[in-house]
Amino acid sequence: MKLLKGKKTIAVVCNQWGDTGKGKFVDYFGEWADIIARGTGGANAGHTIRLGNKEHIFHLIPSGILYDAKGKINIIGNGVAFDPAVVEHEMSLLKKSGCSFKNLLFSKDAHLVLPQHLLLDRIKESKAGSDKIGTTGRGIGPVYEDHYARIGLTVNDLLNPKIFEEKLQRNLRNKMVVLRQYDKNVIKKIMQHEHLGSGLFYDAKNIFNIDAIVKEYTRYGKLFKKNITDTDAFLRKAVGKKKILLEGAQGNLLSIDHGTYPFVTASDCTVQGLAKGVGLRENDVEMTLGIVKAPFMTRVGEGAFPTEFGGEESAKWCGTPGINKETEKEKFGDLSLDQTDDFKLGVAVRMKGDEYGATTGRPRRTGWLDLPFLRYSVQYSSSDVIFTKVDVMDTCKEIKICVAYEYTGPEYIVGDKVLKNGSRLNIVVTDKDVLKYCKPIYKTFPGWLSSIRNLRKMKDLPQKLKNIIKFIEKEAGIKVRIISVGPDREETIMVDG
Ligand code: GDP
Ligand code: IMO
Ligand code: MG
Repeated sequence: MKLLKGKKTIAVVCNQWGDTGKGKFVDYFGEWADIIARGTGGANAGHTIRLGNKEHIFHLIPSGILYDAKGKINIIGNGVAFDPAVVEHEMSLLKKSGCSFKNLLFSKDAHLVLPQHLLLDRIKESKAGSDKIGTTGRGIGPVYEDHYARIGLTVNDLLNPKIFEEKLQRNLRNKMVVLRQYDKNVIKKIMQHEHLGSGLFYDAKNIFNIDAIVKEYTRYGKLFKKNITDTDAFLRKAVGKKKILLEGAQGNLLSIDHGTYPFVTASDCTVQGLAKGVGLRENDVEMTLGIVKAPFMTRVGEGAFPTEFGGEESAKWCGTPGINKETEKEKFGDLSLDQTDDFKLGVAVRMKGDEYGATTGRPRRTGWLDLPFLRYSVQYSSSDVIFTKVDVMDTCKEIKICVAYEYTGPEYIVGDKVLKNGSRLNIVVTDKDVLKYCKPIYKTFPGWLSSIRNLRKMKDLPQKLKNIIKFIEKEAGIKVRIISVGPDREETIMVDG
């Protein structure tokens, strides 16, 4: 592969709010790699691989697993929130598709998702009112909180039941103080959720049945014994010798450190966090490819989205429980991209792009590509970019790109700058109290109005699309290396051959 010539360690990350096609490209580069490793997030991720008419969705198992039988090694690194129940479930589904797991390794140091994390994630969200984040409910925030509070349990503890129990007791003592404040009936209901063993871990008096938890997690220890190892040491030995592909999760704009805080996830989803999450140094990564959905983008969950089609109305609609692919289809039927109403255009793009959460089934909010965000995000990845889902906009007559914002709020101090009503922002300020006053300034382009799904060469793309790509490259200071024109492996254009 010309693009990766001479490279040994590369990373695929997302420059937006996730769901940009990391699964597709990890699978795509899986052919090249010897080792594929995840280092951030947990089962909040949903990475899709489409092969012919078969779709595989991975939450925790790296997207290189389909190459396991070819001897490629897949690793869940130390930075991942490891939910053994999800891993077992994923492995059983994959087994049915004939997938092997001869080369799947789990870091002994990854932190465990436990029933209390799933309970706390769900209960806090249900009580947060307008402060809710719209989490995936996979316990991610509470796991990383425990990690930093130094009361977490790790995968290694699965192998030592006595130590596991001691640490669990200590962790739960800490949690009970918080949990006693909540309504017992709400707790009881959440504890019956299938992600919480359908009531297996519930005890009416003490909330948690410690014996049941220890028993189940000891079983996981036995089940995964062969997979658990020191993956940091393994990768450090391999770096510079084997071809390593790091699989990002979520996206830079969801990073706990650099994203649209507080509407973020709980790990650092940039390449820095990713390298750290597999025990490597950032400068071990020789090429970072950052994915960008273009020329539209999506977000799922709460938080600002200045270019959202239909603005508030869309955010509210997409956050309404029960709205999913089926209910939208029933309500709106088939919508073309020819919509004059912005909200309806958002629904149409969602339907055309099949933008429904791979983890939760929630509708993803849709909007125009936003250059202030892109300029900001690539600072944390690199200027090497993959454009995905371009084909979704094939039938759109007019393409808008947000080139800057006009700040329309009251005077506000941001570090060494003062924002005033009318200030122009070329690069985003991720502060929510700024974002709510950011009015996008658009440049409009004519759509290319032809199907690009069968095209495989840059030179064959419609000139109108090439103009848009060139404009974005210049404006955002990026280089588009790959253009994705469909979900399948082969629906891919390598820009430089
Ligand atoms: P990830 O979380 O970044 O791995 O992305 P998801 O799997 O959550 O969402 C991306 C969706 O877009 C998946 O359903 C992919 O199969 C699909 N996809 C990826 N690239 C393309 C593309 O270029 N065009 C189209 N139409 N779909 C794509
Ligand atoms: P992939 O890897 C899109 C979002 C949630 C929520 C916020 C916090 O498939 O791109 P969390 O459960 O992590 O505490 O939720 O982050 N979120 C994602 N959005 N893609 C993802 O992963 C996401 N993982 C978390 O919707 O807004
Ligand atoms: Mg996803």
